[in-house]
Amino acid sequence: MAEIVIAPSILAADFTQLGAEIADVSSADWVHVDVMDGHFVPNITLGPMIVEAVRRSTELVVDVHLMIEPVDQFIDAFVAAGADVVTVHVETCTHLDRTLAVIRDAGARAGVALNPATPPETVQYVLDRVDLVLAMTVNPGFGGQSYIPGVETKIRELRAMIGDRPIRIEVDGGITTSTARQAVAAGADVLVAGSAIFGAVDRAMAISDLRDSIRALQ
Ligand code: DX5
Ligand code: ZN
Repeated sequence: MAEIVIAPSILAADFTQLGAEIADVSSADWVHVDVMDGHFVPNITLGPMIVEAVRRSTELVVDVHLMIEPVDQFIDAFVAAGADVVTVHVETCTHLDRTLAVIRDAGARAGVALNPATPPETVQYVLDRVDLVLAMTVNPGFGGQSYIPGVETKIRELRAMIGDRPIRIEVDGGITTSTARQAVAAGADVLVAGSAIFGAVDRAMAISDLRDSIRALQ
């Protein structure tokens, strides 16, 4: 099994001191940035300017989750801002194959996200174009929601579909030490966590607790 990646979501950080907040999670692997447009999802967050600030504040992998529609015309701006991974939602892409090629051509790793109700077959024919599949474990739009365990069946199906391709499976939403264990047992290897990390007083401890919770499975 690949090394598990821990990706704190800055959605739950204190934006009055974003640089210090990101420094506080430096023992993680990736920094997850949620971009919402008030159209595809019922919330609005941030754009390339903040991604650029995140990029200057850390050497961790910058993992940008785009919950925006349309998406294609913004990809270059997020890669130029410093995104290492750019993930688009399958539900927002009429020409998914082309969109994924645009991400890689811009120089980033390409991810594709599926809402809880979206079946795994939607990514079946683009697997050679992706580096990551994000199985949403909540309906996107807000932090602090409850993990949907039914998504684990989909994670298992995705893992079987992916076979030996070097593609990570990321989970996002409601990840805690106990749900992390369930998601990793199903086949996930990137854990996004907002509240469980930034909601903790000791963030380094929260990150090591997450790592400990899945250690027995590796
Ligand atoms: C939800 C976002 C998540 C969010 C997760 O739409 O994509 O990344 O920050 O927050 P928690 O871990 O609090 O569920
Ligand atoms: Zn996210």
